[in-house]
Amino acid sequence: MPKILNVVGARPNFMKIGPLLDEMKRHREIEASLINTGQHYDQVMAETFFQQLGLPVPDMNLEVGSASHAQQTAQIMLRFEPLLLQNKPDLVLVAGDVNSTIACALVAAKLGIKVAHVEAGLRSFDRTMPEEINRILTDSISDFLFTTEISGNENLLREGISPEKIFFVGNVMIDTLNRHKEKAQQSPIINQLGLTTPYALLTLHRPSNVDNRNNLAELLATLQEVSRRIPLIFPVHPRTAKQIAGFGFGEMLHEIDLNRPKIANGINILPPLGYLEFLCLMSKARLILTDSGGIQEESTVLQVPCLTLRENTERPVTVIAGTNTLVGGDREKILTHTAAILAGAYKKGRLPEKWDGQAAQRIVKVLKVAQTFRSATGYRV
Ligand code: UD1
Repeated sequence: MPKILNVVGARPNFMKIGPLLDEMKRHREIEASLINTGQHYDQVMAETFFQQLGLPVPDMNLEVGSASHAQQTAQIMLRFEPLLLQNKPDLVLVAGDVNSTIACALVAAKLGIKVAHVEAGLRSFDRTMPEEINRILTDSISDFLFTTEISGNENLLREGISPEKIFFVGNVMIDTLNRHKEKAQQSPIINQLGLTTPYALLTLHRPSNVDNRNNLAELLATLQEVSRRIPLIFPVHPRTAKQIAGFGFGEMLHEIDLNRPKIANGINILPPLGYLEFLCLMSKARLILTDSGGIQEESTVLQVPCLTLRENTERPVTVIAGTNTLVGGDREKILTHTAAILAGAYKKGRLPEKWDGQAAQRIVKVLKVAQTFRSATGYRV
């Protein structure tokens, strides 16, 4: 019976693992467990997601919390190693590009345990992004590389990864979106916020945008200009909240009083939202402005225009096929594209190949076939 140990740690992992766990459960011969590193630990950054996505209680929580990159990665490794030695899984499955992804993949690979990487091959070609380092390193030591778009296959082949390890399977985050879309429509968030007019949805948390005082000041000034045309709703990530407070930029924002919400033109801030509330707000927004990776993909599927506040994207299919446009921090571009979108001129896009809600099924099928094959030739998964 193959033992698969699935790893989650930070917010963007949570919406990727649910469909995989469900699919593994359908195959009795697979013994699946779930480990949470605890990289994200807040009610709003983690617990709510477990509840709303119906994730099982993890078999183990490493409770690493926040720290510098080196400390966080090292702590995860230190706490993960004894667990692997004790549990002896046949395969460790990691997702995405967060510190938990590389930390757990590295420990497993060194112990000779096979590694599967879900969402492999994405490249921004910007090594100043911590996530880019995590992606390259994780891919280089993985045995099964599951890609969401064809660019991922091309990147991996260019890096010399053997084609037999690469599987274009689609996007598990979209499996989750499809499952929860209807339920999200019933979320009371629109009423709770008193939203009666069109709005744009904003998220910001990339270190390149929020950790540098000048960049953040310029970006917020431009977003204030945008918000004179359409109110911005801005659920603020903890990293961003800290920086805004530290730089003294609170004055530029309007805090929504959830007891007496009043949305006016301007940048309206609120705490991070749960998955269903955010999905509801995304699906009804006139426009999304973001520096997140996952939101570029979700907005493409929801066919909502998305302006990505970054110079590059590791998810080019969202630009080529989807509703995404890269605008970086460029004031002119942001204002021009916003005006065009509000005037109704934007690309509707189409669904990228294999973003059909079946990605988890494809992944588990590959793992099952590989298991049979390898055990027949003396290997386990
Ligand atoms: C991490 C990921 C990033 C992902 C993002 C989504 C890495 C390198 N980065 O960035 O790829 O897009 O998650 O959210 O793994 N904090 C809390 N509560 C929490 C978690 C964090 O208050 O539950 C605070 C921490 O104190 C920290 C800050 O938020 O100062 C940033 O957290 P951290 O885990 O370092 O990285 P993220 O910016 O969240």
